Amino acid sequence: MNDGALLEVRGLAGGYGPVRVLHGIDFAVPAGRIAALVGGNGAGKTTTMAMLAGLLDPDSGTIRYEGSAVEGWGSAQRVAAGIVLVPEGRLVFPDMTVEENLRLGAINRKARRHTAQGMEQVYAQFPRLGERRRQSAGTLSGGEQQMLALGRGLMSRPRILLLDEPSLGLAPMMVDLIFEAIGELAAGGMTILLSEQNVGLSLELADRAYVMENGAIALSGSGRDLLGNAEVRRAYLGL
Ligand SMILES: Nc1ncnc2c1ncn2[C@@H]1O[C@H](COP(=O)(O)OP(=O)(O)O)[C@@H](O)[C@H]1O
Ligand SMILES: [Mg+2]
Repeated sequence: MNDGALLEVRGLAGGYGPVRVLHGIDFAVPAGRIAALVGGNGAGKTTTMAMLAGLLDPDSGTIRYEGSAVEGWGSAQRVAAGIVLVPEGRLVFPDMTVEENLRLGAINRKARRHTAQGMEQVYAQFPRLGERRRQSAGTLSGGEQQMLALGRGLMSRPRILLLDEPSLGLAPMMVDLIFEAIGELAAGGMTILLSEQNVGLSLELADRAYVMENGAIALSGSGRDLLGNAEVRRAYLGL
């Protein structure tokens, strides 16, 4: 057992029908910290996130969250327990306003009771969203849509946020804003699992990191250790 882990994964394996994607991966996310799954396109990060969120059943392996085995739980039960996915590609509703998109995040009864307070917290974290609350989400920039997707996740009152490639396709300045926000959320006590192809920035931010290659964990360590690892520097940082 991994002391202090809010989420602990052991031997997670599976994929899509006959397509085997994950070959038995182990990792842990310490409470109140940032853990990162880094790796290139096709490594299996989104597949892992989908299994954690209850959107895809693994063939084998265990997912322990706060000491409970949650593999058999549906996605709604996991959200209610505080496991909240912010999916790759953001998936905001373009014809709905910022505020309406945020409202959709407050999907369970407990979160609904805190809708107004939750929105104020999101607008405090992302003032750009507050300024655009009546604007339709489709008119936002990519970075603002990512803020909105993150905000919608926060509206579900997560205990652990699963962030799947939040920097994908964003301009460098927006990437910095998003990573800054992720760091602030963790500083406020949120537990975060980040999946990213932006290996350098993720390792700088992460307390614990795992390099994924071909559905397996190739390397793990503190973000700082992996930043100094010769193999990581050559393969992912171009150094
Ligand atoms: N719906 C799907 N059906 C079949 N194969 C898929 C599906 N989604 C992803 N894959 C395959 O699974 C592998 C891992 O993909 P993915 O988990 O999306 O990786 P990453 O998020 O790290 O880019 C890839 O080879 C991809 O082609
Ligand atoms: Mg992906």
